[in-house]
Amino acid sequence: MKVAVGSDHGGLDLKETVISVLRSLGHEVDDLGTYDRNSCDYPDYAQKVAEGVAAGRYDRGVLICGTGLGMSIAANKVPGIRAAVCNEIYMARMARAHNDANVLCLGARVVGPGVAEEIVRTFFTVEHEGGRHARRVEKIRLLERR
Ligand code: RB5
Repeated sequence: MKVAVGSDHGGLDLKETVISVLRSLGHEVDDLGTYDRNSCDYPDYAQKVAEGVAAGRYDRGVLICGTGLGMSIAANKVPGIRAAVCNEIYMARMARAHNDANVLCLGARVVGPGVAEEIVRTFFTVEHEGGRHARRVEKIRLLERR
């Protein structure tokens, strides 16, 4: 898959771990910033990643801030984005299997690198189950059009 990854200053170190895990899984990764430790605003990076996924330039996105919350709130404002904060593995599995999430949000102040690696592996291997869950995802799409 082609994957866009972004973080704010709080997620910078974990972003490096995430990028190397994604590359080890064979994915093509673009790092859309931030690139240094200067304080910055997470919505700027949420926008870059979410718009890239929504436009089809990327198959999936990963966004990292202190908690994952700000990134997910911002990314979900972009139509077509289903961003899910997953700070443990069951959430990552369900985000894919039930919600067909296309952007994974991580909290660098919540999870360590080992747990984050397992979350990324899970999110990028579990398929959407379809069936009744596809009907529910379709209802989310309809909500966006109102
Ligand atoms: C930045 O201090 C922090 O607010 C941000 O990384 C994130 O946790 C917001 O949701």
